[in-house]
Amino acid sequence: AVERTLSIIKPDAVAKNVIGKIYKRFEKAGLNIVGSRMIHLSQEKAEGFYAEHKERPFFPDLVAFMTSGPVVVSVLEGDNAVVLHRELMGATNPAEAAPGTIRADFAQTIDENAVHGSDSPTSAAREIAYFFDKAELCPRTR
Ligand code: CMP
Repeated sequence: AVERTLSIIKPDAVAKNVIGKIYKRFEKAGLNIVGSRMIHLSQEKAEGFYAEHKERPFFPDLVAFMTSGPVVVSVLEGDNAVVLHRELMGATNPAEAAPGTIRADFAQTIDENAVHGSDSPTSAAREIAYFFDKAELCPRTR
C-alpha cells in the first residue's frame, strides 16, 4: 500500500554535507519526497518529538544532539514507505547496521546515527503532523 513516513536527516549528517547523498538513496528506492524543510530544532520541539523516550537514560543526550545543529525533515511517500525507509536506514546502532545502509555508511555511533525514520504507520502520521501542515505536503500530480 502507498504510505508516508517521516525522515529526519540529523545534525551529524547535515554537518557532513551528505543531505544529497541520503536523498539520492530515497529517490533510487522509489520514494517520493513530498515535503521537505531544514530547521534548527528548539529544546522544546526536540523534547516533544521524542516524548516517548523521556524516561530513557539517553534522553538528555539525544535532545542535546538533536538541537546541536540544523536537521532536514522530510515526508517520503511510496509503496511500503515505512518499512522501506527503515531498511534503507539500517539498524539504530550503526555498528549493527547492514553494509550499504545509510547508518553503516554515514554514522559512527548510536547517539549520532545520521537519520531518523518513523517506526510504524501510526507513528508516521503523528510525526508528520508534528512538523508539517497538510497544505505543505505536495504529492505528485505528474
Ligand atoms: P531515533 O530513531 O532517532 O530514535 C531515538 C534515538 O535515540 C535513536 O534514533 C538513537 O539515535 C538514540 N539512542 C541512543 N541510545 C539509544 C538506545 N540505547 N536505544 C535506542 N535509541 C538510542
